Amino acid sequence: MSKRRVAYYYDPDVGAYTYGLGHPMKPHRVRVTHDLVSSYGMLSQMHVLRPKRASPESMTAFHTDEYINFLARVTPETAEELTHGGLLFLVGELPDNPAFEGVFEFCSISAGGSIAAAQRINSGAADIAINWAGGLHHAKKGEASGFCYINDIVLCILELLRVHPRVLYIDIDIHHGDGVEEAFYTTDRVMCASFHKFGEFFPGTGTQDDRGRGRGKGYSLNVPLDDGITDAAYKSVFEPVVTKILETFRPSAVVLQCGADSLSGDKLGGFNLSLAGHAACVQFMRRTGLPLILLGGGGYTVKNVARAWTFETACALGVEDEIDVNLPWSEYFHWFGPRYRLEVMQSNMEDLNLRDGMLDRVRERALEQLQQLRSGGAPSVGMHDVPRQSLGDHLGFTAEEDTHDELDESLAQHARYVYTLPDPDLSSNASDSTDSSDDDDSAPRRRKRMSILTNRYVDIDLPKSAHEKRSFFKSKARWNERLESVTAGAVGVGVTVAELGGVMERGGQGVRNGGRSAGRGAGREVVEEGDREREVDDSNVDVDGDVDDWDME
Ligand code: CO
Repeated sequence: MSKRRVAYYYDPDVGAYTYGLGHPMKPHRVRVTHDLVSSYGMLSQMHVLRPKRASPESMTAFHTDEYINFLARVTPETAEELTHGGLLFLVGELPDNPAFEGVFEFCSISAGGSIAAAQRINSGAADIAINWAGGLHHAKKGEASGFCYINDIVLCILELLRVHPRVLYIDIDIHHGDGVEEAFYTTDRVMCASFHKFGEFFPGTGTQDDRGRGRGKGYSLNVPLDDGITDAAYKSVFEPVVTKILETFRPSAVVLQCGADSLSGDKLGGFNLSLAGHAACVQFMRRTGLPLILLGGGGYTVKNVARAWTFETACALGVEDEIDVNLPWSEYFHWFGPRYRLEVMQSNMEDLNLRDGMLDRVRERALEQLQQLRSGGAPSVGMHDVPRQSLGDHLGFTAEEDTHDELDESLAQHARYVYTLPDPDLSSNASDSTDSSDDDDSAPRRRKRMSILTNRYVDIDLPKSAHEKRSFFKSKARWNERLESVTAGAVGVGVTVAELGGVMERGGQGVRNGGRSAGRGAGREVVEEGDREREVDDSNVDVDGDVDDWDME
């Protein structure tokens, strides 16, 4: 197997954050993965890099200023007030996207790694770059969704577009990659291909009729699947479809979101992929020889997530045939019993995709759509290398001057003017917009959001004017049993403007006490740089949140 230069991004702080007691999303899984990767002796075979944290400014290449401002200052105590009772930014079922301690720092680590990975690929210093803390594909430009707050993938791809004329995004998370698709729905410079479960399942989008819009028509490809898909069935659709994409789209770089909730036995998933079947996608993309970025994503049976991303790190290095399937000793070794092996087995569940030839129809339709792309005339982007200075033009924004700043501006502009996903279930008075206040309908507007936890739609009543959103005097303070104190929304609690300035300046540097009780006052406790290493090494990381994952096999 040919050798590849692999860059591996990891921030030891990432495992210290917790979404809250019992929440299925556990940043700790990235640390467990790292521990396994380390135990296998892989760290010495690649460039291990601690990424710079993403600054609020860099996040606004995709996200709105208002949302980033909010995220940089929200605390568990102020969430109710700052979201106006769950109407803005963190909407709908609050348990999906809690305002946990250090949420912004967590996001700046995740996004920082994906941006750095893109820069490394752009510079030519790596063939493959890995950021298991990234892959948070549901985040929208102005709100969190499906456990994702900042869309590190969009930021990563925007960075790649500086150098690469066409970027292929492939998403093998069990959920539709809706946030990324939405961001690039109207451009032919990014092909988004998502393989996901569809049907009464979060986020409820991603049919084969969703193909892109305008110049982007045909550059979003969706492969909706059903419960129980096996390795063989998945491969029978993934490989021909991706082969056809490579042939018609001819990307110069690939981003692969390796969401591990498509593995058999995932807490929130329903597919039946073994570790080998999941990793086969990574191996397939590596064989293309294209510059490749591997990102994490979903994955809620933590020990299997760690197994998968460890093995896929080995795949990136090309050493997967050499490593021992019996796990080496590691800090978390005892959690991998009773077999202590680097494997995730398929179960005997029924593959619903094989009923009535559904999988065959889905594959044929996807291939047809790609064929149309090929025969429907030359793609407007052209199959030639696009000079860097014309990127803005290609995105439909003619820059006055081809300066770096102009390019940044046009990329950001494009990413912000994203379309609203058509949703057949939405009634005509629904709107996806959070900031248009020119609706003169006297009835409150309603938005629908699906919860990733329950896979059910929830209605969110939107006040009809912007003024009504500002319910400063409506206190939502209430007794929090866990914290044994009153939390949420008392006027005056929160971050002052001066403090916010500091946070923005630090660009997410500095961590409050990793989700423990010390930082739970009205202010923000920032641990200085020198303390951070020690804090990570010593902290009893997320003990309360993780126990439930580890005692089952
Ligand atoms: Co997912």
